[in-house]
Amino acid sequence: RRVLVAVDGPSGSGKSSVSREVARRSGLAYLDTGAMYRAACWAALRDGVDVTDPVAAAVVARAVTLDLSTDPDHERVAVDGVDVTAGPDGIRGERVTSAVSAFAAHPGVREELRARQRDVMDAAPDGCIAEGRDITTVVAPDADVRVLLTADADARVERRRAQVVESGSGDAVEVVDVRAGVVGRDAADSRVTSFLSAADGVVTLDSSALTFEQTVQAVLRLVRE
Ligand code: CDP
Repeated sequence: RRVLVAVDGPSGSGKSSVSREVARRSGLAYLDTGAMYRAACWAALRDGVDVTDPVAAAVVARAVTLDLSTDPDHERVAVDGVDVTAGPDGIRGERVTSAVSAFAAHPGVREELRARQRDVMDAAPDGCIAEGRDITTVVAPDADVRVLLTADADARVERRRAQVVESGSGDAVEVVDVRAGVVGRDAADSRVTSFLSAADGVVTLDSSALTFEQTVQAVLRLVRE
């Protein structure tokens, strides 16, 4: 049986790490759609494009060659052949993180990247788990399993801080800065996509009081149902 799983949630909800682990344990391909928006935004910044310009942003989104590994054991994102997976100048560095919400807000950008996301999901022979902000609602509303992964702000800020330190993407590990980033990006993103409450038929999973393993188990149960 080919299974499609859609996971949405706000920044720091744990959706990436949980989805990746679920993919590993259930043999699914893994698609991080946020990484796709980040990678296209990286190309716009490389080209000196104003990310608030809807036309220029969409032109970059359509032209760029994006390579995202869907192997959950092998994280790799390349933009026009350049590996941008990690490091301060990569897709999780501060420069992209502070520009990506504005870039991702443009309908022309979203239309292009959503089509690419559907192509990736369709191409996965054994199925795919895709995560982002609009997967349960727009990219894959017909997915077999649809989950909104939430967590309260304190839990999300702490997870994001730990992630920034671990990934070496930056040393902006002051909790106040991380909180401002998380809360600010959620506010900007929620004007574009509605990931703060679950759509009809989407299961809400609040992970505030759950361990990583408990959260993975809860999603796996839904996948195996
Ligand atoms: O860092 P975090 O996990 O919170 O975000 P991400 O999943 O890497 O996504 C980065 C940015 O891409 C978000 O802040 C959104 O602006 C945008 N995004 C989107 O608009 N739609 C998606 N399906 C996924 C990400």
